[in-house]
Amino acid sequence: MNTSNLIPTPDNWYWPPSQSITSCLVSDNAVVVQWDNNRRSKLHPLWLRDNCCCALCLHQITRENLLDLRDIPEDIRATAVEVDAEGALCISWSGCNHVSRFNPAWLYANSGHQPSAPFNPVFWGTAQLSEPPTFYANDSLISDELLYEVLLSVARHGIARLRDLPTDIELVEAFALRIGAIRETHFDRIFDVISKADGDSNAYTSEYLAAHTDIPTREAPPGIQILHSRVADAEGGESLMTDGFKVAQDIEQEFPEYYKTLTTTKWCYANRAGPKDYRWEAPTIGLDDHGKLLEIRMLPFSRAPLQGSFEDIQKAYAALRCYMVKANSPEYQMRFSFKAGDLIIFDNRRILHGRAEFFPSTGDRSLRGTYLDRDDVFSKIRQLQYQFLLTR
Ligand code: OGA
Ligand code: ZN
Ligand code: ZN
Repeated sequence: MNTSNLIPTPDNWYWPPSQSITSCLVSDNAVVVQWDNNRRSKLHPLWLRDNCCCALCLHQITRENLLDLRDIPEDIRATAVEVDAEGALCISWSGCNHVSRFNPAWLYANSGHQPSAPFNPVFWGTAQLSEPPTFYANDSLISDELLYEVLLSVARHGIARLRDLPTDIELVEAFALRIGAIRETHFDRIFDVISKADGDSNAYTSEYLAAHTDIPTREAPPGIQILHSRVADAEGGESLMTDGFKVAQDIEQEFPEYYKTLTTTKWCYANRAGPKDYRWEAPTIGLDDHGKLLEIRMLPFSRAPLQGSFEDIQKAYAALRCYMVKANSPEYQMRFSFKAGDLIIFDNRRILHGRAEFFPSTGDRSLRGTYLDRDDVFSKIRQLQYQFLLTR
């Protein structure tokens, strides 16, 4: 696709033609745009002036603003508006001889008509999803199209599985780096989940691990976890996965009091093996400013002592028990075996993971893993969408 004659936009995105402008005028200080689907946009002059993408207002390479809000007169007015031959909205401004030109597709999408929520999660219990959405590497290769499907599944379901990969030691790091920068923690940058005598986490034993999220001992726990199965000869060691948001949503309906406690009582998690001493306090269920589910933080085998009154402690334990019982029940928790060459990628702030005990005397089990942040996945999805738009 030739993009050379596109009308510029403030961002680096390709805005495919959408609605066109049938008329525009200035009314009562607002720029009123009429679209060909009968919708109308009432645009504020400050908003428009601030979003000017000409070379004076926006650095054309960095796509960051040069125009400073303090230099826009507070009482700025549009003195003339018109639609040019290419369909762009052109605005002349009071007090200067500046003209701004807006791509109509960008304007339509960004003035409230197309709320951008492409990553809406779909919550699941095992009735909806009994194993991870699964994708197969073709000849060991992961094409961009396949990666895109995998990442969309992570955004929607919180999890995806890739099968038929090689078991190379470098694979997990190379895969992660295709998506974003590795999120390092105080565990190794790339870690091997094997049973060993001197591990600093129960993950490095062969013990059963109840549903948990990794590293809530940090202010910002890693958003994405990737585990690549390199050896899967031991008996046991099935993976256990739960949609923590589905559990939270159901508790909100069934046990509103517990939900309140889970969203307000701060538990402390601590890495206690030393020498580092990370610890952080936060509610089990984290909500955003609109009360929407943001994250789950729960590492039952690394809880620090709860501080609080006798009554508070009673309530906190009852609510946490309720969450844990659901999160580890077959209604919510899927159970599947790893094969060598499987890779799972999941949202560590939404999906709780665990594993069945395994038996090292029956064979080896080795997962190699690493972390990313959540927005690495969102950024890569957008990047691939952009790439596909330009090449399809
Ligand atoms: C971990 C972990 C799961 C597994 O390493 O944090 O939970 O299947 N591992 O071994
Ligand atoms: Zn400008
Ligand atoms: Zn874990």
